Amino acid sequence: MNVTIIDHPLIQHKLTIMRRQETSTASFRRLVNEIAMLLCYEVTRDLPMTAEQIQTPMERMDAPTLAGKKLCFVSVLRAGNGLLDGMLNLIPSARVGHVGLYRDHDTLEAVEYYYKVPSDIADRLVIAVDPMLATANSAIAAVQRLKDGGAVNIKFLCLLAAPEGVKAFGLAHPDVELYTAAVDRELSKEGYILPGLGDAGDRIFGTK
Ligand code: URA
Repeated sequence: MNVTIIDHPLIQHKLTIMRRQETSTASFRRLVNEIAMLLCYEVTRDLPMTAEQIQTPMERMDAPTLAGKKLCFVSVLRAGNGLLDGMLNLIPSARVGHVGLYRDHDTLEAVEYYYKVPSDIADRLVIAVDPMLATANSAIAAVQRLKDGGAVNIKFLCLLAAPEGVKAFGLAHPDVELYTAAVDRELSKEGYILPGLGDAGDRIFGTK
């Protein structure tokens, strides 16, 4: 499969608490924030580095520093917003874009209603985020929209994926690396991930 599973004990433990139906909105939100930081840490593991000469209180040294392209996080609205805070805690200088898509409940197809990203998106490493990769219709459409808008270097980060979504995403965007904390068993006929954690947006925002 064309996917990196970020199988870290802290992430898996937090994910298990998020899956429990009795987990409160406040706890779920805090956990999304924490897990987003841990996922972001892993997704950015291979950022290019350079050396910069600095002066410590003791002497001069060539010190490692991030090189090259700047980052842009893109939230696939609305649940993607839940991952942004944690990621921005780690990389406060990242730019943020938004792609608004809703899932047509009958066709499960993605329909765009909002798009705003930095004008220099072509020069940035784009990390698009949406907690749930179910059918992958929204993710595929969001990434296509970003490519149409000029983005050339894109990674996609989610929390949970269905095998069907991973396959569809890989077929549509074989050039985009996909990261997730887990790939669950299957997609329900209603388009939910099983066993999953329910509707991520509703659980983050308490809208159930
Ligand atoms: N979106 C969600 O929030 N949950 C799912 O299980 C599938 C899509």
